[in-house]
Amino acid sequence: MLRSADAPMRPLAASPAGGGTCVSPLPSHQSGWVLRMAEEADTAGILAILNDVIATTTAVYTDRLETLEERLAWLRHRRALGYPVLVAEGLPGDGIIGFASFGDFRGGWAGFRNTVEHSVHVRADARGRGVGQTLVAALIEQARAAGKHVLVASVDASNERSLHMHEKLGFRRVAHMPQVGCKFGRWLDLVMLQMVLGDEPPT
Ligand SMILES: CC(C)(COP(=O)(O)OP(=O)(O)OC[C@H]1O[C@@H](n2cnc3c(N)ncnc32)[C@H](O)[C@@H]1OP(=O)(O)O)[C@@H](O)C(=O)NCCC(=O)NCCS
Repeated sequence: MLRSADAPMRPLAASPAGGGTCVSPLPSHQSGWVLRMAEEADTAGILAILNDVIATTTAVYTDRLETLEERLAWLRHRRALGYPVLVAEGLPGDGIIGFASFGDFRGGWAGFRNTVEHSVHVRADARGRGVGQTLVAALIEQARAAGKHVLVASVDASNERSLHMHEKLGFRRVAHMPQVGCKFGRWLDLVMLQMVLGDEPPT
């Protein structure tokens, strides 16, 4: 459950590289974690979550684990483009328990410049406590603040938790693509969801 209305607020720390598009403070959560912009020192925590998701779920359509160097390059690239990478940090001293970010949609073709696609992953032992919802709710505000028009989520059709979470946050299912992926020896259906963030004319 989101508690941004009654939670104390803390300003976002500016990233050393000047990355991120954050213009508003994020809620400091009262349920044992805080959201903030990622720093390079968070890369190992982000990687551990991602590699566990890759190894154990169909949430990500690959079975190749990433290296620390690859994840660090990803973080730097996102920041260089001004895209936010948010982390949820467990308190006290529980490390990174979730992360979320958005980036270019469909390879960044110019005509898609007002649309971004996000990803969100929560550490296995921290799931079901509202961390994912809080991260995506914050990303929605980041996308609005960055002047984006549409936020897209691509979710494996068997991922009922993620589908439920996105629909609860206001995303609408717009496509079901049968058998576009494969992993663990079976075909995977992809569900596309989107949220239109405003009614402004295109720029
Ligand atoms: C999907 C994920 C990001 C959600 O984050 P989370 O912190 O676990 O989720 P939250 O606690 O914020 O909310 C989950 C919601 O789904 C509900 N839920 C849990 N299990 C469910 C299930 N099997 N089916 C339907 N809904 C379910 C919860 O009850 C909650 O809804 P509620 O607030 O109405 O009760 C997280 O579980 C995760 O990282 N999973 C593995 C990787 C992954 O799937 N990433 C997303 C790729 S699109």
